[in-house]
Amino acid sequence: MKNLIDKLYKNNYLDFDEIVYILNHIENQGKDYLIEKAHETRMKTYGNKVYMRGLIEFSNYCTKGCKYCGINSFNKNVERYRLSLEEIQECSELGYSLGYRTFVLQGGEDNYYSDDMIVEIIKEIKNKYKDVAVTLSLGEKPYESYEKYYNAGADRYLLRHETASKELFEKIHINTDYNNRIESLWNLKKIGYQVGAGFMVGIPTQTKEDLAKDLLFLKELDPEMVGIGPFIPHKDTIYKNQQGGTLEDTITMIALTRLFLPHGLLPATTALGTIDPLGREKGIKAGANVVMPNLSPTTVREKYSLYNGKICTGDEAAECRNCIEKRIVSSGFSIDMSRGDNIKWRQNN
Ligand code: SAM
Ligand code: FES
Repeated sequence: MKNLIDKLYKNNYLDFDEIVYILNHIENQGKDYLIEKAHETRMKTYGNKVYMRGLIEFSNYCTKGCKYCGINSFNKNVERYRLSLEEIQECSELGYSLGYRTFVLQGGEDNYYSDDMIVEIIKEIKNKYKDVAVTLSLGEKPYESYEKYYNAGADRYLLRHETASKELFEKIHINTDYNNRIESLWNLKKIGYQVGAGFMVGIPTQTKEDLAKDLLFLKELDPEMVGIGPFIPHKDTIYKNQQGGTLEDTITMIALTRLFLPHGLLPATTALGTIDPLGREKGIKAGANVVMPNLSPTTVREKYSLYNGKICTGDEAAECRNCIEKRIVSSGFSIDMSRGDNIKWRQNN
């Protein structure tokens, strides 16, 4: 085990069988060693900094039917909301005054917001603040739309691949095509975005082999960011009685991803903080280096309910910021409020 981890630490690569071996045999000591090596790697690339991003969840309308997701189009129990362009700007103003220099605009796949409207939102933020990065997370769009947003000033795009197993992907989605999702990620790269892929850990029926495919896919795509979180059941989905992903497995995947992609920006996700009160701190100690506190108005927070028990739904933006800062500092890390680009991407652009 130790030999394999050392090999990964040195080469930032293992083959499929080696990854599966690690996932099948890693136990306490091996896990501690893996986390130690992941931590060492992040210290070499980004030091002890944790980058803060302000998250604006601007719409919970969605045309997609992802079977695991609480706001999928089939869920009739969701109270749907959309933020107006003015409300989105107010969130960014509040965020800027709290020190954020990256805004992540996330929503369901909601055609109410035309390309022109999205372009307007991006332009307004970028014209107002010269030192801010805009990250979009709007799902799958045609190449031309991605290009319009990029030309309007969008810097980054988050689009988790969810799972790199085509078979599992098809099992958990209704009207989403695996090939289109993967192609969208390559399109985003080609256009010039800093790209965020990512996956869920503990999806019903997911195997160690599926998770090994995730790491190999990431190595091939070489994204600037990777969002990894546990699957958590939602009460209104067909997976409501399934087991969710565990803290242990998610931490292992974060640490392995750090070793595969030493320069990656890896969030300690809200989902991780939801399954364990110290989940985000544990994620950071295992190589994660981004947190995404919420800037959405508290009146809509609960409505953006992707899974059961989501944390921080009642806290004002300022409280979230302070709470997370305290958690990071008490774990021995320091917060960085700058726009925090991927350093490898910076060197090449
Ligand atoms: N619509 C955009 C998209 O598809 O990329 C962004 C919004 S989507 C809700 C954001 C992410 O939430 C998904 O990529 C998925 O990984 C995660 N998510 C959805 N349901 C979840 C669940 N039940 N447990 C954990 N994560 C979930
Ligand atoms: Fe569209 Fe979840 S199904 S955001």
